[in-house]
Amino acid sequence: MELKVGVIGTGSIGRDHIRRIARASSGARVAAVSDINLAAAREVAATSGAELFERGEDLIASRGVDAILVTSTDSTHERYVLAAIENGKHVFCEKPLAPGPDGARRIVNAETAAGRRLVQVGYMRRYDPGYVALREVISGRRLGAPLMVHCAHRNRSASDSYTTSMAIENSAVHEFDILRWLLDEDYVSARVILPRKTRHSHAQLHDPQLILLETRSGVAIDIEVFVNCRYGYDIKCEVCCEDGTISLPEPSHPVTRTNGARSVKIFADWIGRFEAAYDAEIRQWIDATAAGSAVGPSAWDGYVATFTAACCSKARDSGALVPVSIEERPALYRA
Ligand code: NAI
Repeated sequence: MELKVGVIGTGSIGRDHIRRIARASSGARVAAVSDINLAAAREVAATSGAELFERGEDLIASRGVDAILVTSTDSTHERYVLAAIENGKHVFCEKPLAPGPDGARRIVNAETAAGRRLVQVGYMRRYDPGYVALREVISGRRLGAPLMVHCAHRNRSASDSYTTSMAIENSAVHEFDILRWLLDEDYVSARVILPRKTRHSHAQLHDPQLILLETRSGVAIDIEVFVNCRYGYDIKCEVCCEDGTISLPEPSHPVTRTNGARSVKIFADWIGRFEAAYDAEIRQWIDATAAGSAVGPSAWDGYVATFTAACCSKARDSGALVPVSIEERPALYRA
């Protein structure tokens, strides 16, 4: 049976996922689209052959839609994910699950009450071959126990609407999710240091920021978030273990030698850097949904990432060490 997917949010990543489904997926098609920007949605509907819905809620309730992909603005995720759960439909929601932990927790509560997993969150790094390789080494203890992790999240430049809190709540959430997955444990405390601010930033953005996390077993993590680094999109992760270190590999580019210099291209943005991961996460979501199951980053994972981000924002604003006190994982997410 072909899975009929309804997409809410036909902006940048929404269009990207629509192309991805059309390109890569037998077994699914985009049957419906919706966006508050009707002109944008109409254009996508015309080119993809999907049905246009003015309201996301009507798309979710439609009998012509089996599963939902939410790629609208952060602040709208909660209402669409809750509506999907209410309609008993599987939903893939781009990160963050909600802008703050309260909204994410309401989603966890609704899914728990429904008694089955319906939500997957778009933390695509879990599908990146480099992170998968790191996890294998760490979980197999091939280098002994992990002790420290050094990470960097760098973007070439940030827009004037990008703020100090977005660096943590919108960008570093990827780090919070992937590191918890890599180490297979939760965080217990957070601190944030504000280094000297780059002259390339603006009044509403303190850039860079340095996040320090500690896990339950005592692993110390530092994450540099630097969104005006000027040279490209660069994601780094080095895990220091008892018997050696392991670093995140990147998809390779050819090496050019000319004019007395050797050079390798650096990715311009996340779409190029994580393309294989986006393909794999959507592929897995379609297969699992068609089989009636849910896999990948759960609503609980989405909640924990958002909760950690809120703790880090508090730590930055107060300058203090803030405990990250996460409640016990509900039974639905323990398997
Ligand atoms: P965008 O601004 O290009 O697109 C957002 C779309 O949502 C716009 O077309 C807008 O009109 C629509 N929208 C706003 N309010 C709406 C509402 N009430 N109902 C329906 N549609 C509404 O933004 P972009 O970059 O596509 O990001 C969308 C989401 O995807 C964000 O939550 C973002 O954090 C996430 N994202 C995730 C990435 C990842 O690496 N996993 C990468 C880029 C974005």
